[in-house]
Amino acid sequence: MSRLPPSLFDALQHHGWSQHDAFLSPELSSELAAQCVLAQRAGRMKAAGVGSGRTPNVHSAIRGDSIAWLEAGQSAACDQYLALMEVLRQQLNRELFLGLDEYESHLALYAPGAFYRTHLDRFRDDDLRTVSVVIYLNADWLPGQGGALRLHPEGGDSVDILPEAGRMVVFLSGDMLHEVLPAQRERLSLAGWFRRRA
Ligand code: OGA
Ligand code: MN
Repeated sequence: MSRLPPSLFDALQHHGWSQHDAFLSPELSSELAAQCVLAQRAGRMKAAGVGSGRTPNVHSAIRGDSIAWLEAGQSAACDQYLALMEVLRQQLNRELFLGLDEYESHLALYAPGAFYRTHLDRFRDDDLRTVSVVIYLNADWLPGQGGALRLHPEGGDSVDILPEAGRMVVFLSGDMLHEVLPAQRERLSLAGWFRRRA
């Protein structure tokens, strides 16, 4: 990956979020999408919960996605993605002095109609999540299909971002309220969080 443009870090610092299109190649995006579909067929996508920990409470009135946590070494595509996140982690630390030292990430699948109500990505009992990253895996997404990520920047207008393949959105986990609107088609993504040192 080429270095990300400084504008990405400026926007994150000054507006609390940033968008970068074509971050993943179409090949890597479609490979990761295929793995998501395989994981679902194999029963490895589990109803996502709310709250910290890996066995949180499932509340389908708050969020309706299914997720599979990623581990290094599970596939070449997954490792390629994790390597890109490692480059991003180092660049975030260099540009913004965030002291990020870990990354956790899962595949997410929203069936048609599923949503995730407005929330922050930081838990009451765990405030180490600092930068959130979402990368979309859906080729040829049309505006009429819904499924936007809606950001609610403090004191500003809300922003809708469609989940088009290869697009990356980065935002501050503790500050940026956001939600996922329901879609008319299946919606695949990778969601991850850089954590700072405890
Ligand atoms: C999340 C989340 C946003 C998206 O998983 O916490 O907010 O666009 N995802 O999928
Ligand atoms: Mn979130």
